[in-house]
Amino acid sequence: MKVLIYGGGAREHALARKIKQSPLLEKLYLCKPNDGFAGLGEVIEAENFSVLAQISGEKGVDLLVVGPEDPLMGGIVDEFKKAGIPAIGADKKWAMLEGSKSRAKEFMLRNNIPTAKYETITGTEDVYNVLDRFSVPVVLKADGLAAGKGVYIAASRVDAEMTLKEYLEGKFGEASSKVVVEEYLEGPEISLISLWDGETLLPFIPARDYKKLSEGDKGPNTGGMGAYCPVSLTGDEYRALEEYAKNLENALKNEHAEFTGVVYSGLIMTKQGLKVLEYNMRFGDPETQPLLMHLDSDLLEVFKTTVDKELHKVSLKWKKGQTFCVVVAAAGYPENPAKGGVIGNINEVIQNHGVEIFFAGVKKEGGTIVGNGGRVLSVCQTGPCAQKYIYDAISELDFNDKIYRKDIGEVSLYNKGGCSCNCREC
Ligand code: AMP
Ligand code: GLY
Repeated sequence: MKVLIYGGGAREHALARKIKQSPLLEKLYLCKPNDGFAGLGEVIEAENFSVLAQISGEKGVDLLVVGPEDPLMGGIVDEFKKAGIPAIGADKKWAMLEGSKSRAKEFMLRNNIPTAKYETITGTEDVYNVLDRFSVPVVLKADGLAAGKGVYIAASRVDAEMTLKEYLEGKFGEASSKVVVEEYLEGPEISLISLWDGETLLPFIPARDYKKLSEGDKGPNTGGMGAYCPVSLTGDEYRALEEYAKNLENALKNEHAEFTGVVYSGLIMTKQGLKVLEYNMRFGDPETQPLLMHLDSDLLEVFKTTVDKELHKVSLKWKKGQTFCVVVAAAGYPENPAKGGVIGNINEVIQNHGVEIFFAGVKKEGGTIVGNGGRVLSVCQTGPCAQKYIYDAISELDFNDKIYRKDIGEVSLYNKGGCSCNCREC
């Protein structure tokens, strides 16, 4: 198969590396990769999605795999459909389940999928009345895409009033002209990433990501500072997850969701049961990095089965144990990330510690990888002592002012310790 992957983060690097391992792959094309993995395929450039679809058709591309949400909402899959090229990714209509929080809420209500109580608001004159119907803390969500920054948890009524007004007055432009005001829920979160072929939903193993910048879930929200999979669940929790996936499958079937792609459910396990926080219509970043490393099945074969609408035949195979991923970001992230800084010893670090590294905010200068702001790379490892290998690798990484969380995973290596190499498996 000839495959085109669209996107340039660590998630797309992980997709590219996994797809490269498939014997089904004839040729890999990449659109907008970062310099850290552009060498894995032939890069295609195009001024818009229609031209990209046309060039892809000429090159004989059999499958498009879309990483980020923006191209999905911009209609990339619709253009490829017109050109007769199947995709792993939602069309414009279904991308709105991620692109509009209120649409996602309406979908959940129509299909009896448990979620937080909410109201939508569009004008500042209603701020006091709407907030009267919620206790604090209360959650405010810009309706549209706001680069992962549109969710705010207001601790007090005054804070809620002020922030809600700011949102409605255009803090995130058009994206916050409508706001979802939502009941605050408490409990551990789970990311459930599933493939959907128009008939069958195939969930991956549950993953957990770490959205806050600092240890102990402190500091501002980020694009994600780490992840691991699978999350350990009790029998009851596992059954609740299975039941949820069945309900979601029925809901998508009832609503004739005809795309072939990904549905990411952001879930929270509250005392009142499992509830949905959000939908994304793409692979999670950073969850995809450990998930694909943990996957033993041929991903390209699974994607082919998805676009052939035969997911009911697939049973995914996973490695034993758990896989972890720690994100290394540039100093100043997320508000004001520094750019530049050579990352000198990547190959050495990989060799010394057996880890896998996926690139995000990097570029090449004179053949050398340098930081290019934001989340710079993801360091991943599977199996016994995985966390130790990851953290040893990061300490050795020659990159000035790197920042990362030291508590990714169920046992915090540096905070708890306990065994000979400080890792649970020993
Ligand atoms: P979202 O983009 O909707 O997933 O929100 C981002 C993060 O905000 C979630 O992963 C949660 O940590 C938090 N969050 C969102 N909605 C709620 C809620 N109703 N109650 C508590 N936390 C929430
Ligand atoms: N890890 C959360 C996301 O991809 O949105």
